Amino acid sequence: MTVNGKVLQVMQATDNDIPGLLILEKQVYSGQTPWSSFSFESELKKRKNSLYLVVYQASTLVAFIGARFYSRETHITNIAVAPQFQGQHIGKRLMELMIDRARENDNECVSLEVRIDNEIAKKLYRSLGFEEIFIRKNYYQDTHTDAINMILWLRKNQNKGKKFTL
Ligand SMILES: CC(C)(COP(=O)(O)OP(=O)(O)OC[C@H]1O[C@@H](n2cnc3c(N)ncnc32)[C@H](O)[C@@H]1OP(=O)(O)O)[C@@H](O)C(=O)NCCC(=O)NCCS
Repeated sequence: MTVNGKVLQVMQATDNDIPGLLILEKQVYSGQTPWSSFSFESELKKRKNSLYLVVYQASTLVAFIGARFYSRETHITNIAVAPQFQGQHIGKRLMELMIDRARENDNECVSLEVRIDNEIAKKLYRSLGFEEIFIRKNYYQDTHTDAINMILWLRKNQNKGKKFTL
């Protein structure tokens, strides 16, 4: 991946990346690590049904994204870009990589949850065609914040504008 003339390496994450992933989380979540070392370890083990990508500039961890693959759906579990690399379309390009993968898997949709007050992330997802589907109350246990479930439909006219209830 090339960003502003700089070459960034995109690789599948391994356990060796976990210390850097925890530091990146702290940078973007005000010192918090919503995913613990254990959460990353257990996700990285599920290699058959999931994909975690890390992006490096030389030895600096720039960003990561994770997704789980189901028979009809790809679910984005996590995405973050280090503050000094934000706003350079790295997040968008990582999302597009996962969306391409979902299309290759002939999935019907790509889904994710986002904090209701995370306007920047919601703007990114909307710019890719995701729609807000429903609210998950108290989804984030640390702050009791609600999440919005967002979906990108991959087949033409599929479920467009359809309202879902839980
Ligand atoms: C959300 C996040 C991954 C976006 O990554 P990014 O690489 O900075 O975003 P991009 O540069 O790809 O931006 C893509 C689009 O998102 C929106 N966007 C990104 N940063 C924005 C900002 N600071 N203000 C407003 N909109 C913004 C814009 O629509 C932008 O497209 P444009 O530049 O063509 O207008 C990044 O801000 C981040 O890591 N945030 C903290 C972690 C987080 O909230 N993760 C999401 C969990 S659901």
